[in-house]
Amino acid sequence: MDGNLGALDMEELRKQFHRDGFVIVQNALTRKEVEILRREADCLVNFLISEGADIMKDYGGVIEPISCGYTDPPLSQMFILSRRSFAAVRNLVTEDPDTVVPILFEKMASLARTFLPEETQDNPICLFNEQYIVKTPKSELTSQFEWHQDAQYMDPFAQDSFPIVSCWTALDDVNQMNGTLLIEPFPRPLNTVSETYFDLPTSLNDPKTHLQYHQGLASCYKDKLDKDQALTLALDRRAKNMPSRPLGSPLKTLDPQHWESEIQRPVLVQVPAGSTIFLSGFVRHCSLGNTSSKFRRAYMPQFSAGAVVAEDGRIVSLAVPITDSHVLENTHYYEDHDEQVNQEYHDDDYEDYENQEDPEMFA
Ligand SMILES: [Fe+2]
Repeated sequence: MDGNLGALDMEELRKQFHRDGFVIVQNALTRKEVEILRREADCLVNFLISEGADIMKDYGGVIEPISCGYTDPPLSQMFILSRRSFAAVRNLVTEDPDTVVPILFEKMASLARTFLPEETQDNPICLFNEQYIVKTPKSELTSQFEWHQDAQYMDPFAQDSFPIVSCWTALDDVNQMNGTLLIEPFPRPLNTVSETYFDLPTSLNDPKTHLQYHQGLASCYKDKLDKDQALTLALDRRAKNMPSRPLGSPLKTLDPQHWESEIQRPVLVQVPAGSTIFLSGFVRHCSLGNTSSKFRRAYMPQFSAGAVVAEDGRIVSLAVPITDSHVLENTHYYEDHDEQVNQEYHDDDYEDYENQEDPEMFA
């Protein structure tokens, strides 16, 4: 399959995402789409290197297309809140205008939508963040990321209010050698009477239930595994053939205090370029160093249910509704945030956006 998503069972993927905290979609992008993103990643990397930057030391391998310095800071901050403005700014970066934008807002966003609560006028699905994650050749010691959950780097209020999904997309074939992801799936709630796994709660369509469930599962994690030990477990072929428990009735209580749970085996991601791993903000993952002699490139947009704001109402990162109609139809939302932008992004606004500290979200 090469970017032909028609055959995918989206309901099954959705269930896997909520059960494990992640799901792998092999070949989510076409070869052409991968080429477009590779060209842009290479262009930005080459620019930064030509400016004397060390991609790992100075950037931690994380390159944000709009704020990395390749183009001048946008004059207006509306790109943070509007798809049309974002597309205009974004198309200044890419060498192939109108190419990355549809990959981002049509292909990736429509997949990401499957894993987030139902979109409403008050909670439009938004682009929350966008970056390339590049690991330079033979950078084993500097290009590893430790165990983390992407949501833990958000403002605490935002973390408890807005579900996010990270769309980690391999632009090169990834494996154990070149710095791929290692994921510890969510522990599984267990019905100790019937010896079955509880099925998903009957509805996860609203942000509160979605967050409660994902945070509940994440609270059942034990201590972080040693990375080498986790890798050994992930590669243990014998464990793959172990019998698994049947699925029982849906989980009724969302309070993890009332759950027994079973830890799942870590998963090493080994997929071809163009594959996307959709990660819950609360799933624990890390990445390995790049020991190979080639660059390892990944692209990772993140989408949120609603415009992610901190407790004081300030926008945390991007809050670009994936459909312009949402902004236009919902004037209340638009006006509120337009005012907020005018108030908060007047003076040192771009500097603030540029200096935000969120590097460890990635991998
Ligand atoms: Fe991450």
